[in-house]
Amino acid sequence: MKKNEKTEKLRKIKEVVLKCRKCELFKERIRNNFFPVIGEGNHNAEIIFCGEAPGLNEAKTGRPFCGEAGIVLDNLLNHINLKREDIYICNLLKCRPPKNRDPKKEEICACSPFLSSQIDIIEPKIICPLGRYSMRFIFEKYNIKENRTISKIHGKIYKIRTLLKSLIILPLYHPAVGVYNPNMIEAMKKDFEIIKKLKSELI
Ligand code: URA
Repeated sequence: MKKNEKTEKLRKIKEVVLKCRKCELFKERIRNNFFPVIGEGNHNAEIIFCGEAPGLNEAKTGRPFCGEAGIVLDNLLNHINLKREDIYICNLLKCRPPKNRDPKKEEICACSPFLSSQIDIIEPKIICPLGRYSMRFIFEKYNIKENRTISKIHGKIYKIRTLLKSLIILPLYHPAVGVYNPNMIEAMKKDFEIIKKLKSELI
């Protein structure tokens, strides 16, 4: 698909999300004058990073990862010379769960088709789920049977091959882990170095 076609399809998703009332989270968004956080970056990206859900800063601005976890993410991207303009960043849930609580099953059911479409439109070569919720969803989308937790499989490469394309899934710790636990940053940097290597091998 051509880049402008992708942009147009992503714009249509944005229109639908702005009117979405499929789960309870829209009420909280409207009550607080928050924005949904749909996604940002290169519509032709080879790499998609997928977080969990907007936090307060994100809901106030409509931009993914613009708070403390975003600083950690930016530092990790910087570590491997990746710029936000090169990648696409989005979330599993587009609206903020109150008090940043974990996503509920019905919210994931209602919202994840948007993420699924974003991925299908962008057609990345590498998907990096950030944290357990997006990891579970991405594994489900691609039919990967893996029950281990993120702490066991972060930085592990999952290769998917279909007749038409090949895709890599690389689960990563959520950047918030680095906010609450700065001694994890070194391990997170090592995981990001895998992205650099994978990227250099892409044809
Ligand atoms: N945490 C997420 O999972 N996504 C964001 O956009 C911000 C914080």
